[in-house]
This record gives sequence, C-alpha cells and structure tokens, in this order.
Amino acid sequence: MIFEHAPSCEPERQYYFIEQCRTLLQAQKERTGRQLSYKITTFGCQMNAKDSEKLEGILKQIGFLAAEDEKEADLNIYNTCTVRENANQKVYGHLGLLKSLKEKAPHKMIALCGCMMQEPDEVATVRISYPFVDIVFGTHNIFKLAELLCRKLSGEKQVIDVWEGTDQIVEDLPAVRKYSFKSGVNIMYGCNNFCSYCIVPYVRGRERSRKPEEILKEIRELVADGVVEVMLLGQNVNSYGKNLDEPMTFAELLRQVEQIDGLERIRFMTSHPKDLSDELIQVMKESKKICRHLHLPLQSGSSRILKAMNRKYDKEQYLELAMKLRREIPDLSLTTDIIVGFPGETEEDFLDTLDVVQKVQYDSAFTFIYSKRTGTPAASMENQVPEEEVKKHFSVLLSAVQEISARMSSRDLGKTLPALVEEVNEKNPSLVTGRLGNNVMVHFPGDASMIGKIYPVWLKESKGFYYIGERIDE
Ligand code: 5AD
Ligand code: SF4
Repeated sequence: MIFEHAPSCEPERQYYFIEQCRTLLQAQKERTGRQLSYKITTFGCQMNAKDSEKLEGILKQIGFLAAEDEKEADLNIYNTCTVRENANQKVYGHLGLLKSLKEKAPHKMIALCGCMMQEPDEVATVRISYPFVDIVFGTHNIFKLAELLCRKLSGEKQVIDVWEGTDQIVEDLPAVRKYSFKSGVNIMYGCNNFCSYCIVPYVRGRERSRKPEEILKEIRELVADGVVEVMLLGQNVNSYGKNLDEPMTFAELLRQVEQIDGLERIRFMTSHPKDLSDELIQVMKESKKICRHLHLPLQSGSSRILKAMNRKYDKEQYLELAMKLRREIPDLSLTTDIIVGFPGETEEDFLDTLDVVQKVQYDSAFTFIYSKRTGTPAASMENQVPEEEVKKHFSVLLSAVQEISARMSSRDLGKTLPALVEEVNEKNPSLVTGRLGNNVMVHFPGDASMIGKIYPVWLKESKGFYYIGERIDE
C-alpha cells in the first residue's frame, strides 16, 4: 500500500517516504518506549562528508536521534570510499564489529553506501559474506534513503539499490550542517577525466553541473542561516558549467557567488591543472572573498608518467602554471596531491617529482602510495613497482614535503591576518582555534562567543604547521 501511493516525481516522492518512515518509527517508539538513533561513519573526501550531511538531514527529519557512537546506534550507516585499497579494508573491519553487536540486538540496522558500493564485486561480497547488512545503496541515489529505509522497515530482508549512473540531480532535500558558520556546496558531480589510476569516474559517474541559480539560491539560504564561508565542491571545478544548457565558466560562477551579501569567504576544491584558466586567475586576483588557497594536484613530476596517467599536462606546463600563479598572486598558498609508485615509475621519474616539489615549494602536500584499483587502465599495466622501492621513495618525498611545508607555513609570521574562529581549543579552553585564508590554523586567546566570526589576528609565533597569535582590536 505504502509504495502504491507514492508520488512519482522528486523530491515529492522522498518527502512522502520521510513521512511514512516517521509513522513507522513512531509506532516502534510506542511499542518499545524508545526513539531509534543513528550514527553515520564517513570515509574519504569532502564530497562524502557533504553526502553524509544530506543523509543526516533525511534521518533527522524522519525522527532519528543522533547516537554518540557506533555501538550504541540502532542504525549505522557507513559512507564508504574506494579511492585506495586501505579505505575498503577499513569498512570490512567495522562490519566485523557490528556483526557481533547485531547478534545480541537483532533490531539494529546497518546500511552501506558511497563509492565502494558502486563496485559490483564489493556488492557481491556484501551479499554473500555479510548477509546481516540491511541496506546497500550507491553514490547516485543517496537522496533515496527514506524510500530504502521504508522498504526495510516494511519487512524486506536486504535492500540493495545501486545505480550504474544518472543524469538526475535531485534538489531541495533536507540537510544538516556539521558547522553553523561554514558549509560545503556541491557545484558539480562526477568526473570525465579518467586519469588511468583513478576509480572515481567509474564510481561517481560522468560530470554533471548544477544550475547556477540552484547553487546561488543554496548559498543565499546558507548565508541567511549564519554561514560566512562556503567551499564549492567538485572533482574538477575548473570544468564547471561546460555541460549546462546555457554553458558558463567556473570563473563566471565565482563572480556571481562573490556578489552575495554577507558571504565573507569562498573556497573551492579540486582544480585540475589542465583546465585552470587565466580568467580564473584574474577573478581570484580581483576577489575580496576568494581565499588565497589553491589545491592543484600534481600526481607526478615526470612527463612520461603524467602521460601514462592520462593527466594531459607535462612537467614543464605544470611548472609554468605554478610559477604564473606564484607571480600573479604572491600570497597564494599552493597545495597538492602526489602519487608514488605508479606502474613503470623509475628513479629518474621520481627525481622529476622531487624536482617539481623543490621548485614549487608547496604549502602542503598529500602524498599517496599508488594503489591498484581493479577496472582502471593502470591496474593492468606491466611494471608494477616493487613495494620496497615505493616505500623508500615515499619516505624521501614525505620528508622533503614536510620540510618545505614547515617553512612555507610560517611565512606570514609577524603579520596580522583575518582568522575565522572555528572552535574552542581542545587542549586549552582559554584559546580559540581560527583558520586563516590560506588554510593554516592559529590559536589565540578567546572564548566560545567568537565561534563563526572573523577577527584580525597577529601571528606572533610559528609552531611549524600552525601559529600562536593574538587578537588585534580594529
Ligand atoms: N592510488 C593512490 N592514490 C590515488 N589517488 C587517486 N587514485 C589513487 C590511486 N589509485 C589520489 C590522487 C587524488 C587523490 C584524491 O587521491 O592523488 O588526487
Ligand atoms: Fe580521479 Fe583524475 Fe577525476 Fe581527479 S581528475 S577524480 S584524479 S579521474
């Protein structure tokens, strides 16, 4: 009956299922005298963190309470990541723990979603080896959580709903925010680049841009609700808008976001070097709100490896771009991602990566050991690099990156810069922790009433990767 009467269009359909779940949950509460609780455990990137906020919005609206930890929760959701092998293994570790809990309390529900569930082999593993998992869904249909829960609560044993792809973007569903004063905002989904090592295009599908009016509306609403900083999210924000009915550039979108009154800071993530335009550099230069921070993944400094990675730029082009950015926006903080041990990487290739690291002087860098992802072109390449050699290179790279980063992170010592207060310092409650525009943290005297506000802070002492400061009265 419940399913026969459901509207067919979205988001109305999901609001209908939210109501149905509410009623089912209420009946359960009357029976047991207890309101059910949830815990979402999120793995991976900012995109997943944002998806988890959407899931949480739906659960809150249904009437679930937030649980402190996994053991206590009646519904556990694992929002998974599959970008590297170790991310997958972590999830199975959690499932092992939950199995014994569920044996003692069979009413507990477990849901798996996110990137790992877009892989048919992983879903098959869950089906065969983890039959106690109640709900499985993917990255394309997280908006359907209420409907899937309804199916489970109406008696289905294991609900599996994973879509291969979609061109649908469902707007206007509830979401909660982890922070009251800052928020991620999706501007596009998916990726079309097919870097040869990367599984993301297979699990997040093709590039889809949200309409600018939807993005601007969401940001205006966030600002009205107290948000002062937004992070525009996409796998490759520089190709935003190319597939819209009325195409527009990412730089143009930024210009429009800048106009929103009350919004103080704009960040974005991630930029692919091949698509970073002069127009974007210009907009960043002129902007009063765009933070002086650019995450520009290098992946490798060797032109030969970059070609095998299908990155579509070479060492010289990357260096030229990085130098142009340093020249045009001198206070820009540049950060990056680097992979060590891509198939066929030689000593010489690795030295090229080190060379770029030395020349660009990154403010910080995430370094990864290459992880073979089944189904990607690199997985079937010959010459996988021996583990010993990869580990050796990884540790050389890590020390180079850390030494540079410590130096770069203290380059503003003595200056007074605006910091957005994020929280009271965990270790010392007489201090607050603020974030500078370039993403470096500063701890300075203050209290909880300052959270969410921006103050000028004198950076009086550098501690390597963060500062100790003092608030300066304007
Ligand atoms: N192995 C190691 N690192 C990877 N990344 C993506 N795929 C892999 C892989 N197979 C890294 C890239 C990317 C970051 C998010 O994760 O550096 O920029
Ligand atoms: Fe993966 Fe490359 Fe797309 Fe980034 S740009 S998500 S590394 S395929």
